[in-house]
Amino acid sequence: MTKEFDEVLVREEEIRARVSELAAEISRDYEGRNPLLVCILKGAVFFMADLVREISVPCELDFMAVASYGSATDSSGVVRILKDLDANIEGRDVIIIEDIIDTGLTLSYLFKNLGARNPATVEACALLTKPSRRKADISCKYVGFEVPDRFVIGYGLDYREDYRNLRFIAALPEEKDE
Ligand code: IMP
Repeated sequence: MTKEFDEVLVREEEIRARVSELAAEISRDYEGRNPLLVCILKGAVFFMADLVREISVPCELDFMAVASYGSATDSSGVVRILKDLDANIEGRDVIIIEDIIDTGLTLSYLFKNLGARNPATVEACALLTKPSRRKADISCKYVGFEVPDRFVIGYGLDYREDYRNLRFIAALPEEKDE
């Protein structure tokens, strides 16, 4: 399946190795605690599933779905909640699990929204970041890889709901990135 993508940015083995490193960092930082991992649907679903199985402290999972108004490849920064958390996060150590930080506007909104619910702490863990596109000033404690300013697909990330099941991260062929 790799064949049709000439620009693979992160290979399957690299993802696996980095996910283990991030899980080790989180396990160390949250020793003796019971963090709540909040997966942002749908893009972060494989990342969260792989990450949580490598984390050695007891943790709980919850899910949130948000949508940002905009085109298929550009977000507007106006975020709305499509599915909210089941858990009450008051007093909890929350870790937001994101697929990619692009402008940072979604994560900035999530920090504000979840922060208002009186958690003990809120941190974020993103598989990918595109620093050159940043519009919001956010700090993400755990980051997997930096990617260039291209629309990326695979390992959960989609282009119009396609390509989520690729085992690697690739750049969307330029003719589709309109
Ligand atoms: P932000 O608010 O601009 O940081 O965008 C965050 C969300 O936009 C991510 O959680 C993704 O769902 C989506 N997104 C941004 N860049 C990409 C990309 O290159 N590929 C797939 N989805 C992306």
